[in-house]
Amino acid sequence: MKKVLIFGGSGQIGRHLIRRLTNKNYLVTVVTRNLHRKGTVLRLGGNPGYVEIIEANIFNEDKLNDLFKDKDICINLVGIISENKKNKFKNIHTYFPTLLSKKCEEFKLKQFIHISALGVDKAKDSKYAKSKLAGEKNILENFSKTTILRPSVVYSVDDNFTTNLMTLLSLLPVFPLYYEGKTKFSPIHVSELCEIILEIIEKCIIEKIVECVGPEELSFKEILEKLLFSIDKKRILFNLPLFLAKIIIFFLEKLPKPLITQDQLTLLKYDNVISNEYKSNIDIGYKAKLRFEDEVKKYSYMWREGGEYSKK
Ligand SMILES: NC(=O)c1ccc[n+]([C@@H]2O[C@H](COP(=O)([O-])OP(=O)(O)OC[C@H]3O[C@@H](n4cnc5c(N)ncnc54)[C@H](OP(=O)(O)O)[C@@H]3O)[C@@H](O)[C@H]2O)c1
Repeated sequence: MKKVLIFGGSGQIGRHLIRRLTNKNYLVTVVTRNLHRKGTVLRLGGNPGYVEIIEANIFNEDKLNDLFKDKDICINLVGIISENKKNKFKNIHTYFPTLLSKKCEEFKLKQFIHISALGVDKAKDSKYAKSKLAGEKNILENFSKTTILRPSVVYSVDDNFTTNLMTLLSLLPVFPLYYEGKTKFSPIHVSELCEIILEIIEKCIIEKIVECVGPEELSFKEILEKLLFSIDKKRILFNLPLFLAKIIIFFLEKLPKPLITQDQLTLLKYDNVISNEYKSNIDIGYKAKLRFEDEVKKYSYMWREGGEYSKK
Protein backbone atom coordinates (compact mmCIF):
# COMPACT_ATOMS: atom_id res chain seq x y z
CA MET A 1 0.00 0.00 0.00
CA LYS A 2 1.56 3.32 -1.07
CA LYS A 3 1.88 6.10 1.48
CA VAL A 4 1.08 9.59 0.25
CA LEU A 5 2.01 12.79 2.09
CA ILE A 6 -0.14 15.79 1.16
CA PHE A 7 0.42 19.45 2.00
CA GLY A 8 -2.50 21.85 1.49
CA GLY A 9 -4.96 18.94 1.47
CA SER A 10 -7.75 20.87 3.16
CA GLY A 11 -8.20 23.12 0.14
CA GLN A 12 -10.53 22.76 -2.83
CA ILE A 13 -8.37 20.31 -4.79
CA GLY A 14 -7.07 18.45 -1.74
CA ARG A 15 -10.51 17.59 -0.36
CA HIS A 16 -11.52 15.91 -3.61
CA LEU A 17 -8.14 14.25 -4.08
CA ILE A 18 -8.08 12.66 -0.63
CA ARG A 19 -11.42 10.96 -1.30
CA ARG A 20 -10.14 9.50 -4.57
CA LEU A 21 -6.84 8.35 -3.13
CA THR A 22 -8.35 6.63 -0.11
CA ASN A 23 -10.95 4.94 -2.35
CA LYS A 24 -8.01 3.39 -4.15
CA ASN A 25 -6.48 2.26 -0.84
CA TYR A 26 -3.67 4.78 -0.63
CA LEU A 27 -2.70 5.65 2.93
CA VAL A 28 -2.87 9.42 3.10
CA THR A 29 -1.18 11.73 5.60
CA VAL A 30 -2.44 15.32 5.37
CA VAL A 31 -0.63 18.22 6.97
CA THR A 32 -2.69 21.19 8.11
CA ARG A 33 -1.94 24.34 10.09
CA ASN A 34 -5.10 24.09 12.13
CA LEU A 35 -6.58 20.75 13.14
CA HIS A 36 -9.55 22.38 14.87
CA ARG A 37 -10.65 24.28 11.78
CA LYS A 38 -9.79 21.71 9.12
CA GLY A 39 -9.93 18.40 11.02
CA THR A 40 -13.60 17.63 10.42
CA VAL A 41 -13.56 18.29 6.70
CA LEU A 42 -10.38 16.24 6.31
CA ARG A 43 -11.52 13.35 8.48
CA LEU A 44 -14.78 13.03 6.57
CA GLY A 45 -13.02 13.45 3.23
CA GLY A 46 -11.52 9.99 3.00
CA ASN A 47 -12.32 6.40 3.88
CA PRO A 48 -12.04 5.78 7.63
CA GLY A 49 -8.65 4.41 8.60
CA TYR A 50 -6.96 5.70 5.47
CA VAL A 51 -6.44 9.34 6.48
CA GLU A 52 -4.01 10.58 9.09
CA ILE A 53 -4.14 14.29 9.90
CA ILE A 54 -1.12 16.08 11.27
CA GLU A 55 -1.12 19.62 12.58
CA ALA A 56 2.24 21.24 11.88
CA ASN A 57 4.15 24.29 10.85
CA ILE A 58 5.05 23.32 7.28
CA PHE A 59 8.42 25.08 7.57
CA ASN A 60 9.55 23.07 10.60
CA GLU A 61 12.32 20.85 9.20
CA ASP A 62 12.40 18.43 12.13
CA LYS A 63 8.70 17.82 11.64
CA LEU A 64 9.18 17.41 7.91
CA ASN A 65 11.94 14.84 8.45
CA ASP A 66 9.59 12.91 10.65
CA LEU A 67 6.81 13.04 8.07
CA PHE A 68 8.93 12.15 5.06
CA LYS A 69 10.77 9.16 6.46
CA ASP A 70 8.25 6.43 5.55
CA LYS A 71 6.43 8.00 2.58
CA ASP A 72 6.36 7.04 -1.10
CA ILE A 73 4.76 10.06 -2.73
CA CYS A 74 4.53 13.75 -1.80
CA ILE A 75 1.86 16.07 -3.22
CA ASN A 76 2.06 19.83 -2.71
CA LEU A 77 -1.21 21.75 -2.94
CA VAL A 78 -0.22 24.70 -0.75
CA GLY A 79 -0.89 28.01 -2.46
CA ILE A 80 -2.21 31.51 -1.89
CA ILE A 81 -3.90 33.87 -4.30
CA SER A 82 -3.04 37.08 -2.44
CA GLU A 83 -0.36 38.09 0.04
CA ASN A 84 -0.74 39.45 3.54
CA LYS A 85 1.73 40.51 6.22
CA LYS A 86 2.37 36.93 7.34
CA ASN A 87 2.10 35.00 4.07
CA LYS A 88 4.24 36.09 1.17
CA PHE A 89 4.21 34.55 -2.32
CA LYS A 90 7.96 33.95 -2.18
CA ASN A 91 7.71 31.95 1.03
CA ILE A 92 4.71 29.86 0.00
CA HIS A 93 5.34 29.35 -3.74
CA THR A 94 9.14 29.40 -3.93
CA TYR A 95 10.76 28.59 -0.61
CA PHE A 96 8.30 25.90 0.58
CA PRO A 97 8.18 23.78 -2.62
CA THR A 98 11.98 24.02 -2.82
CA LEU A 99 12.21 22.66 0.71
CA LEU A 100 9.82 19.81 -0.14
CA SER A 101 11.79 18.84 -3.23
CA LYS A 102 14.98 18.64 -1.14
CA LYS A 103 13.20 16.38 1.34
CA CYS A 104 11.94 14.19 -1.53
CA GLU A 105 15.53 13.74 -2.65
CA GLU A 106 16.90 13.21 0.86
CA PHE A 107 14.29 10.59 1.76
CA LYS A 108 14.35 8.96 -1.71
CA LEU A 109 10.65 9.30 -2.45
CA LYS A 110 9.23 7.64 -5.57
CA GLN A 111 7.41 10.71 -6.84
CA PHE A 112 6.74 14.41 -6.13
CA ILE A 113 3.64 16.00 -7.61
CA HIS A 114 3.53 19.78 -7.36
CA ILE A 115 0.56 21.91 -8.37
CA SER A 116 1.61 25.15 -9.99
CA ALA A 117 -0.61 27.22 -12.30
CA LEU A 118 -1.14 27.68 -16.03
CA GLY A 119 0.71 30.54 -17.70
CA VAL A 120 3.19 31.30 -14.90
CA ASP A 121 5.96 31.55 -17.50
CA LYS A 122 4.04 34.19 -19.48
CA ALA A 123 2.86 36.57 -16.74
CA LYS A 124 6.31 37.96 -16.01
CA ASP A 125 4.96 41.11 -14.32
CA SER A 126 2.87 39.21 -11.75
CA LYS A 127 4.37 38.52 -8.33
CA TYR A 128 2.18 35.39 -8.00
CA ALA A 129 3.38 33.97 -11.32
CA LYS A 130 7.03 34.86 -10.70
CA SER A 131 7.03 33.13 -7.32
CA LYS A 132 5.39 29.99 -8.77
CA LEU A 133 7.85 29.87 -11.67
CA ALA A 134 10.86 30.25 -9.37
CA GLY A 135 9.47 27.41 -7.22
CA GLU A 136 9.08 25.17 -10.30
CA LYS A 137 12.67 25.85 -11.40
CA ASN A 138 14.14 24.93 -8.01
CA ILE A 139 12.03 21.78 -7.70
CA LEU A 140 13.14 20.49 -11.09
CA GLU A 141 16.76 21.10 -10.14
CA ASN A 142 16.41 19.32 -6.79
CA PHE A 143 14.36 16.21 -7.51
CA SER A 144 14.22 14.41 -10.85
CA LYS A 145 11.13 12.32 -10.09
CA THR A 146 8.91 15.40 -10.15
CA THR A 147 5.76 16.10 -12.13
CA ILE A 148 4.51 19.69 -12.07
CA LEU A 149 0.89 20.28 -13.00
CA ARG A 150 -0.21 23.65 -14.30
CA PRO A 151 -4.01 23.80 -14.20
CA SER A 152 -6.21 26.51 -15.64
CA VAL A 153 -8.97 27.63 -13.31
CA VAL A 154 -10.41 24.72 -11.30
CA TYR A 155 -14.13 24.78 -10.50
CA SER A 156 -16.58 22.77 -8.39
CA VAL A 157 -19.48 23.20 -5.99
CA ASP A 158 -17.02 24.15 -3.24
CA ASP A 159 -14.66 26.41 -5.20
CA ASN A 160 -13.76 30.05 -4.64
CA PHE A 161 -14.36 30.93 -8.25
CA THR A 162 -17.83 30.15 -9.61
CA THR A 163 -19.45 30.30 -6.17
CA ASN A 164 -18.04 33.77 -5.39
CA LEU A 165 -18.93 35.03 -8.85
CA MET A 166 -22.50 33.74 -8.55
CA THR A 167 -22.86 35.42 -5.15
CA LEU A 168 -21.59 38.74 -6.54
CA LEU A 169 -23.73 38.45 -9.66
CA SER A 170 -26.76 37.81 -7.47
CA LEU A 171 -26.09 40.88 -5.33
CA LEU A 172 -24.86 43.46 -7.84
CA PRO A 173 -27.03 45.01 -10.57
CA VAL A 174 -23.95 45.67 -12.71
CA PHE A 175 -20.64 43.80 -13.00
CA PRO A 176 -17.27 45.11 -14.25
CA LEU A 177 -15.28 43.54 -17.06
CA TYR A 178 -11.50 43.97 -16.97
CA TYR A 179 -9.71 43.93 -20.35
CA GLU A 180 -13.23 43.91 -21.89
CA GLY A 181 -13.76 40.41 -20.50
CA LYS A 182 -11.66 38.97 -23.36
CA THR A 183 -9.18 36.96 -21.26
CA LYS A 184 -9.59 33.27 -22.11
CA PHE A 185 -9.74 30.40 -19.63
CA SER A 186 -10.00 26.65 -20.00
CA PRO A 187 -11.89 25.69 -16.82
CA ILE A 188 -11.30 22.19 -15.58
CA HIS A 189 -13.61 20.43 -13.14
CA VAL A 190 -11.91 19.43 -9.88
CA SER A 191 -12.95 15.77 -10.31
CA GLU A 192 -11.11 15.60 -13.65
CA LEU A 193 -7.99 17.29 -12.26
CA CYS A 194 -7.98 14.72 -9.45
CA GLU A 195 -8.35 11.91 -12.02
CA ILE A 196 -5.27 13.29 -13.78
CA ILE A 197 -3.31 13.28 -10.50
CA LEU A 198 -4.43 9.71 -9.84
CA GLU A 199 -3.40 8.68 -13.36
CA ILE A 200 0.04 10.20 -12.78
CA ILE A 201 0.42 8.22 -9.56
CA GLU A 202 -0.96 4.92 -10.83
CA LYS A 203 1.07 4.95 -14.05
CA CYS A 204 4.04 6.52 -12.25
CA ILE A 205 4.26 9.26 -14.87
CA ILE A 206 7.27 11.54 -14.48
CA GLU A 207 6.85 14.52 -16.78
CA LYS A 208 8.44 17.85 -15.90
CA ILE A 209 5.45 20.06 -16.73
CA VAL A 210 1.90 19.08 -17.65
CA GLU A 211 -0.69 21.72 -18.51
CA CYS A 212 -4.16 20.73 -17.29
CA VAL A 213 -7.15 22.10 -19.15
CA GLY A 214 -10.84 21.46 -19.58
CA PRO A 215 -12.54 20.76 -22.93
CA GLU A 216 -13.44 24.40 -23.73
CA GLU A 217 -11.85 27.82 -24.05
CA LEU A 218 -14.13 30.50 -22.65
CA SER A 219 -13.58 34.23 -22.31
CA PHE A 220 -14.20 35.78 -18.90
CA LYS A 221 -17.30 37.44 -20.36
CA GLU A 222 -18.59 34.11 -21.63
CA ILE A 223 -18.04 32.57 -18.19
CA LEU A 224 -20.07 35.36 -16.57
CA GLU A 225 -22.82 34.99 -19.18
CA LYS A 226 -23.00 31.24 -18.57
CA LEU A 227 -23.20 31.79 -14.81
CA LEU A 228 -25.92 34.43 -15.25
CA PHE A 229 -27.91 32.09 -17.49
CA SER A 230 -27.50 29.32 -14.96
CA ILE A 231 -28.77 31.40 -12.03
CA ASP A 232 -31.47 32.90 -14.23
CA LYS A 233 -30.46 36.54 -13.67
CA LYS A 234 -29.90 39.44 -16.02
CA ARG A 235 -27.10 41.87 -15.18
CA ILE A 236 -25.31 44.66 -17.01
CA LEU A 237 -21.70 43.68 -17.78
CA PHE A 238 -19.71 46.86 -18.47
CA ASN A 239 -16.12 47.49 -19.55
CA LEU A 240 -14.21 49.07 -16.69
CA PRO A 241 -11.26 51.18 -17.96
CA LEU A 242 -7.96 49.91 -16.59
CA PHE A 243 -6.96 53.15 -14.83
CA LEU A 244 -10.29 53.19 -12.99
CA ALA A 245 -9.97 49.49 -12.11
CA LYS A 246 -6.56 50.18 -10.60
CA ILE A 247 -7.91 53.01 -8.43
CA ILE A 248 -10.86 50.93 -7.19
CA ILE A 249 -8.65 47.92 -6.50
CA PHE A 250 -6.22 50.14 -4.58
CA PHE A 251 -9.00 50.56 -1.98
CA LEU A 252 -10.45 47.02 -2.27
CA GLU A 253 -7.00 45.59 -1.58
CA LYS A 254 -7.06 47.03 1.92
CA LEU A 255 -9.87 44.63 2.92
CA PRO A 256 -8.85 41.56 4.99
CA LYS A 257 -10.08 39.23 2.22
CA PRO A 258 -9.83 41.36 -0.93
CA LEU A 259 -12.20 40.52 -3.80
CA ILE A 260 -9.41 41.29 -6.25
CA THR A 261 -5.83 42.58 -5.98
CA GLN A 262 -3.57 44.56 -8.34
CA ASP A 263 -1.56 41.39 -8.90
CA GLN A 264 -4.70 39.46 -9.91
CA LEU A 265 -5.60 42.30 -12.27
CA THR A 266 -2.15 41.89 -13.83
CA LEU A 267 -2.69 38.12 -14.17
CA LEU A 268 -6.03 38.71 -15.89
CA LYS A 269 -4.14 40.33 -18.77
CA TYR A 270 -2.91 36.92 -19.89
CA ASP A 271 -4.97 34.17 -21.46
CA ASN A 272 -5.12 31.10 -19.22
CA VAL A 273 -5.27 28.41 -21.89
CA ILE A 274 -3.04 25.64 -23.22
CA SER A 275 0.26 26.94 -24.61
CA ASN A 276 1.22 23.85 -26.66
CA GLU A 277 4.80 24.38 -25.46
CA TYR A 278 4.51 21.62 -22.85
CA LYS A 279 2.71 18.31 -22.53
CA SER A 280 -0.93 18.51 -21.52
CA ASN A 281 -3.35 16.18 -19.80
CA ILE A 282 -4.40 14.98 -23.27
CA ASP A 283 -0.81 13.90 -24.04
CA ILE A 284 -0.67 11.81 -20.88
CA GLY A 285 -3.89 10.06 -21.81
CA TYR A 286 -6.60 12.03 -20.02
CA LYS A 287 -8.92 14.20 -22.09
CA ALA A 288 -11.22 16.25 -19.87
CA LYS A 289 -14.85 16.01 -20.98
CA LEU A 290 -16.93 17.86 -18.41
CA ARG A 291 -18.36 21.07 -19.84
CA PHE A 292 -18.50 24.17 -17.68
CA GLU A 293 -22.16 25.00 -18.29
CA ASP A 294 -23.39 21.45 -17.62
CA GLU A 295 -21.44 21.07 -14.38
CA VAL A 296 -22.29 24.53 -12.98
CA LYS A 297 -25.97 23.80 -13.62
CA LYS A 298 -25.74 20.98 -11.03
CA TYR A 299 -25.15 23.43 -8.17
CA SER A 300 -26.13 26.90 -9.41
CA TYR A 301 -29.73 26.39 -8.25
CA MET A 302 -28.54 27.55 -4.83
CA TRP A 303 -28.22 31.06 -6.30
CA ARG A 304 -31.55 31.00 -8.18
CA GLU A 305 -34.79 32.54 -6.92
CA GLY A 306 -36.76 29.69 -5.36
CA GLY A 307 -33.65 27.49 -5.01
CA GLU A 308 -33.53 23.84 -5.99
CA TYR A 309 -37.18 23.47 -6.88
CA SER A 310 -37.53 26.58 -9.03
CA LYS A 311 -38.82 25.86 -12.55
CA LYS A 312 -35.63 26.32 -14.57
N1 LIG B 1 -8.21 26.28 -7.54
C1 LIG B 1 -7.76 26.77 -8.69
O1 LIG B 1 -8.52 27.30 -9.52
C2 LIG B 1 -6.29 26.67 -9.03
C3 LIG B 1 -5.86 27.00 -10.32
C4 LIG B 1 -4.51 26.92 -10.63
C5 LIG B 1 -3.61 26.51 -9.67
N2 LIG B 1 -4.05 26.19 -8.41
C6 LIG B 1 -3.06 25.79 -7.41
O2 LIG B 1 -3.38 24.53 -6.90
C7 LIG B 1 -3.00 24.45 -5.52
C8 LIG B 1 -4.20 24.00 -4.69
O3 LIG B 1 -5.27 24.87 -4.97
P1 LIG B 1 -6.61 24.92 -4.08
O4 LIG B 1 -7.58 25.70 -4.86
O5 LIG B 1 -6.96 23.56 -3.61
O6 LIG B 1 -6.09 25.82 -2.88
P2 LIG B 1 -6.89 26.31 -1.59
O7 LIG B 1 -8.28 25.80 -1.59
O8 LIG B 1 -6.67 27.77 -1.49
O9 LIG B 1 -6.07 25.56 -0.44
C9 LIG B 1 -4.72 25.74 -0.30
C10 LIG B 1 -4.24 25.06 0.96
O10 LIG B 1 -2.95 25.61 1.25
C11 LIG B 1 -2.75 25.62 2.63
N3 LIG B 1 -2.12 26.91 2.98
C12 LIG B 1 -2.47 28.14 2.57
N4 LIG B 1 -1.66 29.07 3.11
C13 LIG B 1 -0.78 28.38 3.89
C14 LIG B 1 0.29 28.77 4.73
N5 LIG B 1 0.63 30.03 4.90
N6 LIG B 1 0.97 27.81 5.38
C15 LIG B 1 0.62 26.52 5.25
N7 LIG B 1 -0.40 26.09 4.47
C16 LIG B 1 -1.07 27.01 3.80
C17 LIG B 1 -4.08 25.51 3.32
O11 LIG B 1 -4.03 24.38 4.18
P3 LIG B 1 -4.34 24.45 5.77
O12 LIG B 1 -5.23 25.62 5.99
O13 LIG B 1 -5.01 23.13 6.05
O14 LIG B 1 -3.03 24.57 6.44
C18 LIG B 1 -5.09 25.28 2.19
O15 LIG B 1 -5.89 24.18 2.40
C19 LIG B 1 -2.45 25.82 -5.14
O16 LIG B 1 -1.07 25.84 -5.23
C20 LIG B 1 -3.03 26.72 -6.21
O17 LIG B 1 -2.20 27.85 -6.47
C21 LIG B 1 -5.36 26.26 -8.06
